[in-house]
Amino acid sequence: MITSDIESETGLVRISRADKSKLGYVGGLNLERDSNSWLTPDYIIDAVKKVLGEIDLDPFSSEEANRRIKARYIFIENDSAFDNTWPFVRSVFINPPYGQGLIAKAIEKLIEEYKKGIFEEGILLVNNATDTLWFHSVLPFVSARCDTKGRIKFIPATEAGAQKNTSSNTRGQVLFFFGKNAKRFEKEFSAIGAVSLYLDRYAIAEKKEHELSKKKREESRALRSALTARAKLTERLKQIRKLERKGVSRSEISRTLHLYKYPGFTRIWLSEATLRK
Ligand SMILES: C[S@@+](CC[C@H](N)C(=O)[O-])C[C@H]1O[C@@H](n2cnc3c(N)ncnc32)[C@H](O)[C@@H]1O
Repeated sequence: MITSDIESETGLVRISRADKSKLGYVGGLNLERDSNSWLTPDYIIDAVKKVLGEIDLDPFSSEEANRRIKARYIFIENDSAFDNTWPFVRSVFINPPYGQGLIAKAIEKLIEEYKKGIFEEGILLVNNATDTLWFHSVLPFVSARCDTKGRIKFIPATEAGAQKNTSSNTRGQVLFFFGKNAKRFEKEFSAIGAVSLYLDRYAIAEKKEHELSKKKREESRALRSALTARAKLTERLKQIRKLERKGVSRSEISRTLHLYKYPGFTRIWLSEATLRK
């Protein structure tokens, strides 16, 4: 791997030039680096797995990358995630290639697949390029985000260099969470950065759903007990009518049917009129 030292505002920045055709945007400078193949460090993968469980699909990967991520399905550059239908899965992790144009394309594809319901939960790792259109295109779909405290040191994808040479990005990163369980994401990612929950998405929707079903449950319980009470009342009135037809006095009826046991038994007579309505 060729390396070169470049003077920047912050001092000497060591960069790799693994592939000149893939120019990445590094801070305010157009530096030459293979921005497509930086691998996610272990502590991020661990946190991702604590939230998602196993990673079912890593759509932007390589064999080398997946030796670390261990996703069930991957797409690689030559078997492109752009040209293939993604499998229906539960969880997705995406650290997209950063080459010019690729990031926007990757995010467009991700959102398209999410809208189709291809995956339930996902974590997207990107630079905090809050000024870009692609960044804003993600926002309406996520239920949480984590703004990293400091920058993630990605690992260069070279068999020999992996794990040894780490390189600092010149921007901070954001991890976006797609899915319902934003609270679990918050729990795991609070140690990595500042987590914001978009409560107007799933949390409030879930709360409303919960309140609605609670209300429905209460209503149906009340309805059930009203119907039971009404059935009991009808039965009792039938017995009263039968005894009345036989000329039994009301006090006798009351004793016979043990109505005295019911403090509100007179209401039964009163309710008779209601029942006939
Ligand atoms: C930033 S790296 C991330 C690798 C891995 N997912 C990780 O997080 O460690 C992006 C990966 O996407 C791969 N890639 C580039 N274009 C791709 C495409 N069209 N389809 C699938 N993978 C692609 C690159 O080879 C690279 O391995």
